[in-house]
Amino acid sequence: MRLVGISGSIRKDSHNTGLLRAAGELLPPGAELELVGIGDLPLYSEDIDTDPAPEPVARFREAVAAAEAVVISTPEYNASIPGPLKNAIDWASRPFDQNPFRGKPVLVVGASTGLFGAVWAQAEIRKIMDHIGAKVLDTELPVGQAHETVAHGLQQEAIWAELERQLAVLVDMTRGAGARLRERVAA
Ligand SMILES: Cc1cc2nc3c(=O)[nH]c(=O)nc-3n(C[C@H](O)[C@H](O)[C@H](O)COP(=O)(O)O)c2cc1C
Repeated sequence: MRLVGISGSIRKDSHNTGLLRAAGELLPPGAELELVGIGDLPLYSEDIDTDPAPEPVARFREAVAAAEAVVISTPEYNASIPGPLKNAIDWASRPFDQNPFRGKPVLVVGASTGLFGAVWAQAEIRKIMDHIGAKVLDTELPVGQAHETVAHGLQQEAIWAELERQLAVLVDMTRGAGARLRERVAA
């Protein structure tokens, strides 16, 4: 099973990208996660939302479309989600009816250097994902003080265990959805 990971941070040493790399190691057998970048996407404007789409946009949409499930790890910027992540989701959300998140299982996690582990940003992403038709898991993984936890391993065991558990739920849900689809096609 192919999963795609989207980090809400385009920072070189991002803790959220680190969390996704860890997720790649914690997946159940048979599942693999590939990261897709969002830093080269132009700022969304309907003026350039053309057919064919700008190359980085086409690449991003195709990466999401090709994945069976998505893991998003987001930091919190000013009690909400970072602009580049919102920009990427806005690009992927069009055309709305056929957007590649529609019907797709999505797990949202997040890391911040504050105490609360980007809980507001995670809630915001879940709201957006629900709005654009994704099957977003009703869970959160707040990784606070990420400069200590993700970067230096403090309390990492408990965080990694919870991440592993949530990934297993995502993979189970995705396998279930795939099996139901195959049954419908065969019927
Ligand atoms: C513009 C800006 C706003 C921020 N606002 C918040 C915030 O509201 N809550 C929070 O916990 N951390 C906040 N932070 C700190 C981020 O959590 C921290 O920079 C984090 O490491 C970013 O994620 P990354 O390591 O994946 O790049 C903010 C950082 C920036 C640059």
